[in-house]
Amino acid sequence: MKRLGVNIDHIATLRNARGENHPDPFFAAKFAKKCGADSITIHLREDRRHIKDLDAKKICSVKKLLVNLEISTNYKIIRNALRIKPNYVCLVPENRKEITTEGGLNLKKNKDKIKKIIEKFKRQKIRTSLFINPSISDIKIAKKLKTDCIEIHTGHLANLIKNKKRYNNEFQRIKKASLLASNLNIEVHAGHGLDYKTTKVLTKIKEIKEYNIGHFIIGESIYFGLSKIIKRFRKIIK
Ligand code: PXP
Repeated sequence: MKRLGVNIDHIATLRNARGENHPDPFFAAKFAKKCGADSITIHLREDRRHIKDLDAKKICSVKKLLVNLEISTNYKIIRNALRIKPNYVCLVPENRKEITTEGGLNLKKNKDKIKKIIEKFKRQKIRTSLFINPSISDIKIAKKLKTDCIEIHTGHLANLIKNKKRYNNEFQRIKKASLLASNLNIEVHAGHGLDYKTTKVLTKIKEIKEYNIGHFIIGESIYFGLSKIIKRFRKIIK
């Protein structure tokens, strides 16, 4: 069974636009699970532009809710994440000025730091994942760092498909990277910029076990409701 992780960061974006309490990411997390999400993803950014510490704490305290916490490698964020105790963490690169996560981690440059971070989470039995570009050399480094999973940044593929450009080269890169990771016993996830069509394309890669999707799900829910959208994605990835 393939899994669907629903990223609810933008429920918090909407809440923060008014500086009040509605819509509440805590309620949204529980509701998304009820609608069929296998896990909930939240990104506790260094600038706290959407999810706040209290949101993360409350959401991670819900029993039977699997929470994937996306975090940068900043030591204060790592310290917070170790206290918050999510079920899963996904390390992502972060740049204050970016609108959203622009690319994968630079594993080559940061391998020692990332290795130590992975060890810390593993000691607490928290599943680890690294958000990376579909690169063979990064998969080999990821293996050495002993991560449980990798999440392949699908933003480039998604942009090519949405702009009706040729996407086969990028698709093949993702496929080769997924195959290698899977052969090395690293679980493969995919995320960023995914909608119905881009997700459908990726389902041809059977090594991808989990999809983490946020902006499109929340945006589309305005028209059709969260429950319908989650059910439609579940049908696509099954
Ligand atoms: N996966 C990771 C690691 C991300 O950083 C993001 C964006 O926060 C997503 C998935 C979800 O991307 P999108 O909101 O474009 O679906």
